[in-house]
Amino acid sequence: MKIAVSGKGGVGKTTVAASLVDYFARRGNGVYAVDADPDASLGITLGLDPRVIEEQVPLIDMKEVIEEKNKGGGALVDLNPNTEDVLEEYSINRGNISFLRMGGVKQGGTACYCKENAFLQSILNSLFYDTDKTVVLDMSAGIEHLTRGTSRGVDLMLAVTEPSLTSVKTSLLVQNLANELGIKQLYFLGNKIREEQEAGFLKESLPEGTFIGMLPFDAEVLSLARGEACHESSLLHKQIEKIMENILGGEGIPQK
Ligand SMILES: Nc1ncnc2c1ncn2[C@@H]1O[C@H](COP(=O)(O)OP(=O)(O)O)[C@@H](O)[C@H]1O
Ligand SMILES: [Mg+2]
Repeated sequence: MKIAVSGKGGVGKTTVAASLVDYFARRGNGVYAVDADPDASLGITLGLDPRVIEEQVPLIDMKEVIEEKNKGGGALVDLNPNTEDVLEEYSINRGNISFLRMGGVKQGGTACYCKENAFLQSILNSLFYDTDKTVVLDMSAGIEHLTRGTSRGVDLMLAVTEPSLTSVKTSLLVQNLANELGIKQLYFLGNKIREEQEAGFLKESLPEGTFIGMLPFDAEVLSLARGEACHESSLLHKQIEKIMENILGGEGIPQK
């Protein structure tokens, strides 16, 4: 399954993405955990060594690195390497988890943005279509890494939403962007819910039948963020597990 997680900054995208990665990894699945948010924090949330993450080349800069490596080699320079090999070689691996960082989409005006973005697209295509592994993409609200082509590979997109007007507004924007890209399976996922009233507010504010679940505010998540607890024990993690078990255990992704 290929899952993309989006939503306003601070709502809990990375927390949810890390929890999903952890869930699949513990089930024995190979998982690509891909940090596609410029506010890169998935690696640290997964408990990887910050120094190792720092040294990892983001995928957007990979083409240059490969070109550099091939320079002066005399051999036929392979500028379109097997992207699956690239995924293997440049991931940080821990158990069933392979961690990758996308790096920001390059804007027009920089010398080689076009071919580098094209390279990024081929990597995404490879992740979505060539690998059997689970993929969890931690994205910004802009979902700018996805195109019409690659987004067809997304089985499930989650717009994490906390009970606030601004978060609701951003999630509706995410839904519009997802619609434009042709992503059908976009679901809202409530987070940081402290009381029934807040879940009610979210249900009233967003289209009917579009919620996949509501996650509680969980003080333990904050201690997790400080590296003091393990994922399995948290209330939030248990709730995510329940949602995924429903999907994987036969019910499938809810159909609209
Ligand atoms: N359900 C929750 N309960 C309590 N704190 C949460 C919950 N979800 C996320 N947080 C906390 O909120 C902050 C922002 O979460 P994060 O996952 O980094 O958001 P984002 O990736 O959307 O910017 C973090 O400190 C995180 O620990
Ligand atoms: Mg984040």
